[in-house]
Amino acid sequence: MSVFRRFYYWLPRLIRNILGPILTSIPFTFRCQQKRWIKDKYARFGLDQKRHIFMSIARFCNINRPMTGYYFEFGCHSAGTMRMAFDHSRYLFDWDYVAFDSFEGLPEIPDIDKQEIWVKGKLKTTEEEFWGIVVGHGMPPGKLKTVKGFYDKTLTKELKASLLPKKAVVVYIDCDLYSSTVPILPFIKDFLQVGTIIVFDDWYSFYGGPNRGERRAFREFREKNPELMFEEFVHTNEQGSFIFLGKKEAP
Ligand SMILES: C[S@@+](CC[C@H](N)C(=O)[O-])C[C@H]1O[C@@H](n2cnc3c(N)ncnc32)[C@H](O)[C@@H]1O
Repeated sequence: MSVFRRFYYWLPRLIRNILGPILTSIPFTFRCQQKRWIKDKYARFGLDQKRHIFMSIARFCNINRPMTGYYFEFGCHSAGTMRMAFDHSRYLFDWDYVAFDSFEGLPEIPDIDKQEIWVKGKLKTTEEEFWGIVVGHGMPPGKLKTVKGFYDKTLTKELKASLLPKKAVVVYIDCDLYSSTVPILPFIKDFLQVGTIIVFDDWYSFYGGPNRGERRAFREFREKNPELMFEEFVHTNEQGSFIFLGKKEAP
């Protein structure tokens, strides 16, 4: 680490908060190079991985057509994923898009989900802001539905009845936490059709271990529902996805 950087990190946080944006705008400083690398390389890599998932889904659904029904997204925040889903499906399919979110950010974080980056209220986009972003991006308002609230309260039998009998083509789960994923899986069970793709956006969170996060929720769901068959689909450095193959024949 250069003497300048050591000096910078030695300064009190308040001073760094003032100096940081100034240094970021001066070419050839570490801060400026860091900001450019994060934007041009690091963040772009993440977006490219996600695009790979959505393009893979588009090709899968087109090759196996007709694949009709809902695009469900659990964990919608600033609609980056919802817009990408729409961009990769609008020209080939006529899906209906349902966004499930508290629109108040993350819930209280229980012990099993505690990790430095997850904080109650973080990742908040209001329902109005979300509609503005998605419709402003070109999605016809009649194609979008939002379900506002925390999943342990909103994913009711009544909601399910109001959305059935239409099935889901894609279920995109991006709510980060084990505790948030647990109520989603039994809710979506009745929406599965042969070919439904379930994507877990945070498959490799919590070091990718099987006992936490979305992985644990999916493992427990499969243990409780051994008759449901899934095939591994596309995995990236962050996401994991699976194709629903139907139910095992009774012996
Ligand atoms: C990582 S963000 C989603 C990012 C989003 N896909 C995007 O493209 O911007 C996680 C989202 O999950 C939502 N969330 C997490 N747990 C939830 C719960 N139990 N009930 C409702 N929403 C939840 C948060 O409000 C937040 O919007």
